[in-house]
Amino acid sequence: MDASHDPATADQLAALLRWYGEMGVDAVVDETPHDRFAAPPPPPAVLVAPSAVPGAPVAARVATVGDSRPTRSSPAPDGRGRPPLPGFVPAATPRPLDAAALSTDAAVLSAREAAARAGSLDELRAALERFEGCGLKNTASRLVFADGDPTATVMLVGEAPGGDEDRSGVPFVGKAGQLLDRMLAAIGLERAHVYVANVVPWRPPGNRTPSPQEVAVCLPFISRQIALAAPSILVPLGGSATQALLGTKEGMLRARGKWADYAGEGRTIPALPMLHPAYLLRQPAHKKLAWRDLKALQRALADSAAPSRPLG
Ligand code: URA
Repeated sequence: MDASHDPATADQLAALLRWYGEMGVDAVVDETPHDRFAAPPPPPAVLVAPSAVPGAPVAARVATVGDSRPTRSSPAPDGRGRPPLPGFVPAATPRPLDAAALSTDAAVLSAREAAARAGSLDELRAALERFEGCGLKNTASRLVFADGDPTATVMLVGEAPGGDEDRSGVPFVGKAGQLLDRMLAAIGLERAHVYVANVVPWRPPGNRTPSPQEVAVCLPFISRQIALAAPSILVPLGGSATQALLGTKEGMLRARGKWADYAGEGRTIPALPMLHPAYLLRQPAHKKLAWRDLKALQRALADSAAPSRPLG
């Protein structure tokens, strides 16, 4: 009998899965574990064709990729086996870390190109669906693009979707999202009358904070999304979104509630960073700070409605 049909085993498996989930291991990434801290393997040995250095002893015909010493037995830079010019130092082979940095740069470049080509929010969503430069796409269930009214005056931008958002495809629907709805309602705003998105549109496994590389790769898309939605007021929610969008290094307790300029594509948008609702769930005493910021947002909206003081 299949072990999973044995009730005791099935219960144990279910308990094990629950435990994994609680520990944050909630995405299947591969069949076998990878030790990311393991020392990189030694660079592969390259056999120099015996014809390259006639008469050289066999041991001298084995060179190592990235060996920077200009020995006579090193392969020539053009790979055709000619001895190197005197003083020639071959470029070192990139180590794994360099390779990762290079691939992030390439992914950022490709994200910029894809985002810039999108002439509408629908095209941007489609571009994100096609984009393969962010590894989070492999572990997330789906893209979480946006919710609310894309023509709204206020656009709120969070960090990244969580589990509830990953399941539903809609940003801010879990506990933090429900608190956000109550916060907005407290100043007379409904979800349907604001536009909501995230810096990173795929859920990081275990709800971890997106890495700086993941944020860098996704930034061109959220920047384009802001440009296309063209809100009059931008509200970054939490430290990640505030740092990514406003380029500040300030801690959130300092940055919150202070109007800043978001330098968008050809247009500056007033931005009011606010504490993330997930943070407020953990630190309810700071809700009073969030209330101050909500009142500031409400005042700005009232001012922008007055014909003499348009925003943006
Ligand atoms: N937290 C976020 O930053 N975004 C969401 O969509 C949900 C939780």
